[in-house]
Amino acid sequence: MPGADCDLAADYARPLPCMVMLQLLGIADMPASTLLAWSDASLELFYGWPSPERQAHLVDLVCDFYRWLTSQVTDAAPSHSLIGALRSHRMPSGEPVDPATVVAVCFFAFIAGQSTTGQLISTVLRHALADADVWERSASDESFASAWVEEVLRREPPVTTWRRVTAREVELSEVRLPAGSQLLLMLMGTGSDPEIFDQPDRMDPYRANIRHHLSFGAGRHRCLGASLARTEAAVALRVAARLLPDATLTKGADPQMLGLLSFRAPTRVLVRHN
Ligand code: HEM
Repeated sequence: MPGADCDLAADYARPLPCMVMLQLLGIADMPASTLLAWSDASLELFYGWPSPERQAHLVDLVCDFYRWLTSQVTDAAPSHSLIGALRSHRMPSGEPVDPATVVAVCFFAFIAGQSTTGQLISTVLRHALADADVWERSASDESFASAWVEEVLRREPPVTTWRRVTAREVELSEVRLPAGSQLLLMLMGTGSDPEIFDQPDRMDPYRANIRHHLSFGAGRHRCLGASLARTEAAVALRVAARLLPDATLTKGADPQMLGLLSFRAPTRVLVRHN
């Protein structure tokens, strides 16, 4: 509505990746708001600091999510979807993948695919809206919008830390770690390392080494949705900047940051548009 405030995080950044994941999984009959509530509950339960009472409440929501996903996996899903592909897959022994494994894959793929991407889009929009030139240019210049997304991923990624367990004894930065050590990798810090990035606190979409961060992890478990997330965020930025050329961040509005062990992003992006 012209002249009104709206929240681009709740109304745009968060539902968009949820809809993409529904298409990918082959599911059509659940409102995005319910799926987002289940996904938020899962993130808070696994990565937050909920009180015992809150944990009990979150577990109920996560169980609802799990039960619903199980029914989707056991019902017929379109063959061109992730659920359909997992159901028709045969192991080298000729056996199908057991349903509990299919549910587990879809559970984590769904959360990994939509929460993080929604968080990235919210951060991208907030930074782009704070600079009128960036907003204007994002509407018309496809490669600029993609590079801007990459700078946000470098500087302020949604996944700030990730856990690893050492498989064997290893020495890291002159510290000897026994096998089985629990590590918390500070992924976010890699994009602001002054030995890698010149003036790391400056947003510069023209950096030659723009992708040399670890915001999608590294090695055999590196994020398999990185290209999809980058594409969604760049398209979301371009479309919003094109459709809302006069949008400005609502003055004085507190962005309210989500702050979990591994996830950080504004939970709202309030804008005024004419
Ligand atoms: C901005 C969005 C995203 C960010 C920042 C992100 C980040 C990450 C990170 C840091 C990891 C751990 C990598 C490691 O252990 O080295 C990961 C793993 C994973 N991501 Fe993403 N991700 C995003 C979007 C997506 C999307 C869209 C999907 C699916 C469509 C996805 C699916 C996965 C999966 C399945 C894994 C586990 C891979 C494995 O353990 O082998 N992610 N992601």
